Amino acid sequence: MNDNAHDSNAVPDEPVPPSLQGDIERILFPRRRIAARIRALAGRIGGDFGDRPMMLAAIMTGSLIFVADLIRHLPLRMRIHLFGLSSYAGAATESDGARMLGQRGAEFAGKHVLIIDDILDSGRTLAATVEACRLAGAESIRTCVLLRKPPARRKPGGLDQVDYVGFDVPDVWVVGYGLDYGDYYRNLPDIAVLKKKC
Ligand code: IMP
Ligand code: MG
Repeated sequence: MNDNAHDSNAVPDEPVPPSLQGDIERILFPRRRIAARIRALAGRIGGDFGDRPMMLAAIMTGSLIFVADLIRHLPLRMRIHLFGLSSYAGAATESDGARMLGQRGAEFAGKHVLIIDDILDSGRTLAATVEACRLAGAESIRTCVLLRKPPARRKPGGLDQVDYVGFDVPDVWVVGYGLDYGDYYRNLPDIAVLKKKC
């Protein structure tokens, strides 16, 4: 019997779905490594927030799976707000600046906000989101990303300092675990580098 047979946290290693295999150059972070890192991140976040109720602001759609996994390791009193935000038009790989697609304000006033995104690239998406939360009267604002591209990717006006980071990644296009290319590949359970031809 395998060591993990009785471990409810064990994540089985399933192969990349055959329909996606041809597009993937290599797996950067397999699902087990992601799961372990998320548990560690949640431990740090939980310790920092203590008993302060949290307003978790998740930037959709890329942070969908990250947030879903992270919050189940955060035994805090929290509310969740989903930001619909897009900094890339279609499948373009350059940010043209974050555009806030929809925002409401009242629920942020006086709250301790944790903003969550999938990846820090130019930093403009997070900068815009932090600003929106600040204008809405948040009491404190922290930021968390699963992935962070190298500092050379940051653009003027972009946020550079993030409070919680899952992994640093090279300057490549990554997909899976919520991250997309042209809105595909989000359902890949691992984080992978896309083949250049795609
Ligand atoms: P930023 O505003 O340039 O920092 O871009 C952040 C957003 O760009 C993220 O929320 C992602 O949706 C997207 N993004 C940047 N790099 C990648 C990538 O390598 N794969 C998938 N999405 C990415
Ligand atoms: Mg995104």
